[in-house]
Amino acid sequence: MDICFELKMTVEDIKKPVKEEMALFEKKFKSAMKSDVALLDKITHYIIKRKGKQLRPLFVFLTAKMFGPVQEGTYTAASLIELLHTATLVHDDVVDDAFERRGFLSINALWKNKIAVLVGDFLLSQGLLLTTSENRIDLLNIVTKAVKSMSEGELLQMEKSRKMDITEDVYYKIIEQKTASLVAACCGTGACSVTDNQDIIATMEKVGVYVGMAFQIKDDIFDYGFSKDIGKPTGIDIKERKLTLPLIHVLQKVDKKSKRMIINTIKKDKQDPIKINKIISIVIENGGIQYAENKMHEYKNLALKELDQLPNNPAKESFIGLIHYSINRKK
Ligand code: IPE
Ligand code: IPE
Ligand code: MG
Ligand code: MG
Repeated sequence: MDICFELKMTVEDIKKPVKEEMALFEKKFKSAMKSDVALLDKITHYIIKRKGKQLRPLFVFLTAKMFGPVQEGTYTAASLIELLHTATLVHDDVVDDAFERRGFLSINALWKNKIAVLVGDFLLSQGLLLTTSENRIDLLNIVTKAVKSMSEGELLQMEKSRKMDITEDVYYKIIEQKTASLVAACCGTGACSVTDNQDIIATMEKVGVYVGMAFQIKDDIFDYGFSKDIGKPTGIDIKERKLTLPLIHVLQKVDKKSKRMIINTIKKDKQDPIKINKIISIVIENGGIQYAENKMHEYKNLALKELDQLPNNPAKESFIGLIHYSINRKK
């Protein structure tokens, strides 16, 4: 397949094989957000109007389309996953004290933490209910494992940010748990909704893990603030004492004295923008961003290699386009 062609695919091109399915999905997703409680309905309305990139449902539909026509279960999986994803973002902004999401004020910024926590719980349970009402324990089984991983990943991340002793291996474990597990669930449920072939389901879950790793490394690079208007705050990771790949790599490289200086600055002076900017410069000068970008490409290539063994069709071509988009995206 011609790589240059895939790199040029726009989101519209990528969506083409599942355009109608994505439109119908949006309707179903909206109705899954409804509630009789006026406050809740107001908030879910706010969420729907400021929807995200919806990459996860796209992964679900494209995976399904690679192996057969989209089924009712494919819609169930896509809605379940987008509901869970939205729930975790609402909770994440509480956890990270972040006041901006998708270019607008976050739920906690507008309605405070108490309400944001409950809204997240509501979205999560709506997702679960959707699957049980359709009797899709198989889909629920895949997704519940991912949700469990996500909480573990977040907690591991917190443990490491307290002690600030994260290694590169632990970083990969964290991003696999907190982000890649859900992308794996997208591909796994997408496949599961159209085929019983366990080898295919397992291969697609593996692809999802690799893509999810690349996706989160990209997100961590975004935090260094090189791109404009990504729709959420940047520079938040260091402030939260969250060490990500660019900095982890540099800490491995520099001498003991510089390492101590960096760690102490983050511990004591993380509110001082001049000192934080100094650390960011050190990261750039020591090739931290470059290193993370290389790793991101390595994961992308692992995903592409897995896909090689599968038959070619327009959905697969779009799926490959979506992998490229995940790491070349501007937000
Ligand atoms: C954000 O995911 C959370 C991470 C795993 C980094 P997205 O960037 O896909 O969020 P939305 O749904 O498009 O806002
Ligand atoms: C995203 O984590 C939340 C989950 C993956 C559960 P981050 O805190 O790194 O993501 P953003 O940058 O706020 O979207
Ligand atoms: Mg977070
Ligand atoms: Mg966050």
